Amino acid sequence: GNRTFTMIKPDAVVANNVGAITKLIEEAGFRIVALKKTQLTQELAGQFYAVHKERPFYKDLCAYMSSGPIVPMILEKANAVEDFRKLIGATDPKKAEPGTIRNLFAKSIEANAIHGSDSDGNAEIEGNFFFSNFEKF
Ligand code: GTP
Ligand code: MG
Repeated sequence: GNRTFTMIKPDAVVANNVGAITKLIEEAGFRIVALKKTQLTQELAGQFYAVHKERPFYKDLCAYMSSGPIVPMILEKANAVEDFRKLIGATDPKKAEPGTIRNLFAKSIEANAIHGSDSDGNAEIEGNFFFSNFEKF
């Protein structure tokens, strides 16, 4: 697949790191197809992260993800999903490789700066959660 979905999470937006993170994404060869700034309600965060419903951190995660503005984006590049997850690094910033976005910008395992879709199918579903066809160029 040649597209993935990402969102810059509230910790990185509050820290004024939107520009620095977007620059790394473009420098890594991703083209921005769609981009906006918005804020989720707790209910919408719950819908977005429904796959994690049974996990112990689900409620905290939904509260956190609705605590401030986020910047969702659809990105295009060959091998997008896999290459983007390499660019962002491990979920826990303590385990993220040097130079990855989470190594550089994440605050904790929960406030970890950025999301990256884990499959082509989820990239499509997650992109459609935020963007209509009139917003994808
Ligand atoms: P995403 O790209 O955001 O989906 O992260 P991921 O694929 O690296 O991790 P995963 O899908 O397993 O978890 C989704 C999100 O839940 C993570 O990015 C974290 O924000 C949060 N999370 C994951 N594990 C933990 C945990 O053990 N504790 C807490 N508080 N949050 C967690
Ligand atoms: Mg995930």
